[in-house]
Amino acid sequence: MVYEVYVRSFADSNGDGTGDLAGLRSRLGYLAELGIDAVWTTPWYRSPMVDGGYDVEDHREADPLFGSDHDVPELVAEAHRLGLRVLIDVVPNHTSDRHRWFRAALAAGPGSPERARYHFRPGRGRGGELPPTDWRSVFGGPAWTRAADGEWFLHLFAPEQPDLNWDHPEVRAEFEDLLRFWFARGVDGVRIDVAHGLLKDPAFPDLGADEEEIAQPPDRSGHPHWDLDGVHDIYRAWRKVAGEFGPDRVFVAEAWVDRPDRLARYVRPDELHTAFNFDFLRCDWDAAALREVIDRTLEALGAVGAPATWVLSNHDVVRHVTRFGDPRRARAAALLMLALPGGAYLYQGEELGLEEVEDLPEEVLADPTWERSGHTRRGRDGCRVPLPWSGSAPPFGFTAGDAPTWLPQPAHWAELTAEAQAADPGSMLGLYRAALATRREHPALGDGTLTWRPAPDGVLSFTREPGFGCVVNLSAEPYELPGDVRVLLASGPLDDGRVPPDGAVWLARS
Ligand code: NOJ
Repeated sequence: MVYEVYVRSFADSNGDGTGDLAGLRSRLGYLAELGIDAVWTTPWYRSPMVDGGYDVEDHREADPLFGSDHDVPELVAEAHRLGLRVLIDVVPNHTSDRHRWFRAALAAGPGSPERARYHFRPGRGRGGELPPTDWRSVFGGPAWTRAADGEWFLHLFAPEQPDLNWDHPEVRAEFEDLLRFWFARGVDGVRIDVAHGLLKDPAFPDLGADEEEIAQPPDRSGHPHWDLDGVHDIYRAWRKVAGEFGPDRVFVAEAWVDRPDRLARYVRPDELHTAFNFDFLRCDWDAAALREVIDRTLEALGAVGAPATWVLSNHDVVRHVTRFGDPRRARAAALLMLALPGGAYLYQGEELGLEEVEDLPEEVLADPTWERSGHTRRGRDGCRVPLPWSGSAPPFGFTAGDAPTWLPQPAHWAELTAEAQAADPGSMLGLYRAALATRREHPALGDGTLTWRPAPDGVLSFTREPGFGCVVNLSAEPYELPGDVRVLLASGPLDDGRVPPDGAVWLARS
């Protein structure tokens, strides 16, 4: 069970309104008590923060916003003392435009070896005034920006995030060194940002589709920059680097691919250990659709001997309380996810039942999507609002200082603070704690297999050995449990012994 910490919104130690590494360290006890195994920290490296730190200027240093270099070993040491492992985020697809390599590339000019580490190309049209291809940035607008001397450079994300050229040996060598640098400092694992995007088709073909389709292509097979087969050589090399530090260092890939069998390629035995399962995250609250995703995932990953992972929320998507439209569904979804075979990822605040903050004032929006989309897409700030820890008014214990939190918190979060929920076993926090404690103790949970049981339409029912059952009711009718079971944990009150609509239970055979 890995817990995602979006560092700038987790806890602030120095009173500037932005979360930091010391703030996270001070709250590790909360995470240990919650019952997680590992923490994944989003980037805290030196960065101009155009994309929340995913625009890295120097991967070997902490940004002063998040702390100083001694905060990293202190965080790792304290986490290890509490029995928690630490995963860091590595961003190999692009650098910040302030990275020393990119500055050198701009200064050195067209045709220089410095430019070869990125994708610089002449434009089309008479004076080269048109971008080299029709590719679009994920954040909106063209994926190319023109440098002052007329060449264009590629950025699949913001213009301040130029894409690296992974066909360049120095790029490969640099990232292998970087992995060694952090593994040697005790880091237990690495989450790989945009793991499916590193290679580009060297022919740079046009996509030729309409704009909507280009940003979110429905089928990426044969795509010129997503999920190219050659990326797997990179991860085979990375796996060897991890192996230099023993068997316990792990990778998790952020790979948005089309199908479970494409995802499975990232977790073949000599590649990465795990990959986020975004099909589960993208699935509607629908029993048949969920069952299909679960089956396809277990089948595809089982075929390569890799464990499944399950995730409902992260710092890039609308929080699932809001997606599912109901906190009861979010409670049931948590019991479903935590009962499935394999690992699970929680995103900070889901254990508090936080919803997406959909009414942030436009002037505070910081996600580059807002500007790049010409103010048509608000972006991802609504799931990144600083956590409410305690007290009855903002900043809810998030910061000790007077500076406003970097995004404002809703006043009604007074009811959702960790402090308010800690004493109440019926709270979302109480449910997560109970579920995680059971998951640790119960021999049927974690890795293994599941067996579906017959159930009416709209009800998911499965067992896991020894002696465990899970029922999730997505139908409109209450569901009568069989007589030979005992309820271990319920997502909410039962209706006369029956599982109500949008309810879930964990069961033991009696
Ligand atoms: C995925 C990260 O999760 C997201 O926050 C970021 O904007 C992009 N990769 C680009 O690095």
